[in-house]
Amino acid sequence: MTETKKHSRASIAAEQASQHCIMPGCGATFSIHERIYVCSKCGGPLEIEAAAEQPRNPTELRRTWESRATAQAGRDRSGVWRYREMLPFDDAAPVVTLFEGNTPLYDAPRCAEYSGLRALRLKHQGCNPTGSFKDTGMTVAVTQALVLGAKTVVCASTGNTSASLAAYAARAGLQCAIVLPQKQISAAKLAQAMDYGAAIFEIDGNFDHAMRLVQELAEEDSIYLVNSINPFRIEGQKTVAFELMQQCAWTVPDNVVVPGGNLGNSSALGKGFEELRSAGLIDRLPKLHIAQAEGAAPLAHEFAGLQTESKGKRGGAASNSALPDRIQFVEHPRTLASAIKIGAPISWRKALRAVLRSGGQVLTVSEQEIADAKAMIGRDGVGCEPASATTVAAIRKLTASGQIQRDESVVAILTGHILKDTDYVSHYHRGTLSIESASGEKQPIAASFRNLPVSVPATKQSILENLRLRRE
Ligand code: F0G
Repeated sequence: MTETKKHSRASIAAEQASQHCIMPGCGATFSIHERIYVCSKCGGPLEIEAAAEQPRNPTELRRTWESRATAQAGRDRSGVWRYREMLPFDDAAPVVTLFEGNTPLYDAPRCAEYSGLRALRLKHQGCNPTGSFKDTGMTVAVTQALVLGAKTVVCASTGNTSASLAAYAARAGLQCAIVLPQKQISAAKLAQAMDYGAAIFEIDGNFDHAMRLVQELAEEDSIYLVNSINPFRIEGQKTVAFELMQQCAWTVPDNVVVPGGNLGNSSALGKGFEELRSAGLIDRLPKLHIAQAEGAAPLAHEFAGLQTESKGKRGGAASNSALPDRIQFVEHPRTLASAIKIGAPISWRKALRAVLRSGGQVLTVSEQEIADAKAMIGRDGVGCEPASATTVAAIRKLTASGQIQRDESVVAILTGHILKDTDYVSHYHRGTLSIESASGEKQPIAASFRNLPVSVPATKQSILENLRLRRE
């Protein structure tokens, strides 16, 4: 394909895209150059809409994307910008990239056995440049910040968004301000933001308070908000569906399972799969399941209520038309998976819509289930942070209850790297991991798969003897 052809195609994606309010009965449309985060007519969530039914040739798209997969430089090397036909930018966009995406899809036989499945695959988004899936969204949001001429980029975070934003802002030469709940962020995530040079503001409050504060800050003209309320974040994160399908040779898995916190990632995955289906690249959607920690599960509670209601009415699963006006938030979210300690998720509506359209579930997993699933993921040689392990814990539950059959194909999306929260890991293996209950009591988490270092005399014999005992 010639450069001219490439140029005109990418330009079409930008020119014909718009920001669109998803609220039924509103549907207001705004230019992609308007710096807004919610609908200025009704306050509803916005989503980027590609051109009205752009003609796409699925075979040609696949071929183009595949030919870029081995690129060593430029936008083609990025696992996000490689799919730029589906992104709302033209070729002149000042792309800010750390060559994000390109994350591995692993077979996980031990996790499969643990979950009651024949096979299980893990898509490890923790292998992104700053160690979490946020980078795929941040490359797009920070590029849009440059397009809009913003001076300062801002976010609230449980740690990963801020680490990612700090890195991309540094690359772009933008001022970066991050607002964090004090003492609730892992040391590693905070360390990243410190090294990347962000202005770090710790508040006496939780993530939901920080989120409200950054929305106020974004009322300033020079400040651009890049939490997942910003639809450009979702545009970047949706590309994981494209990369995953490419890795699966375009054979759609039966189930994709993702952790849910602020619910941007699940919304993005849902959007990605739906766009692939509209473009004729896949012929069905995988069931999209969201896993939430028991103490921070507003969407799972809503989902359970919807299912009971719809069973009563029609004897079937909740349908797309059943979207509620609001959901009950959790005022004091509790979980040791600090990345998803969120009680008032911004993107609940988009996420619920995606789950219902795909026929998936939203479910809770306990702290013990998360901790054990995490250790099991480790036994497959694949480390992740606690929030990511909600996926394997949820798959085990879905299999046990017969909602996923043993032979179905399942992909779990791991969202963060094991080194993001090593305190959790050592406490687990030492048997000192515990969480405070709502009434303030300490609830211990058992070290079911404990693995501790042992002190030995500095002799070959003592080590060989220890190894022999372990084999027996
Ligand atoms: N897993 C990890 C490792 C995360 O950092 C997050 C969110 C999630 C899962 C949940 O994704 O919010 O899109 O539903 N972390 C945000 C942050 C909130 O600030 O880093 P979500």
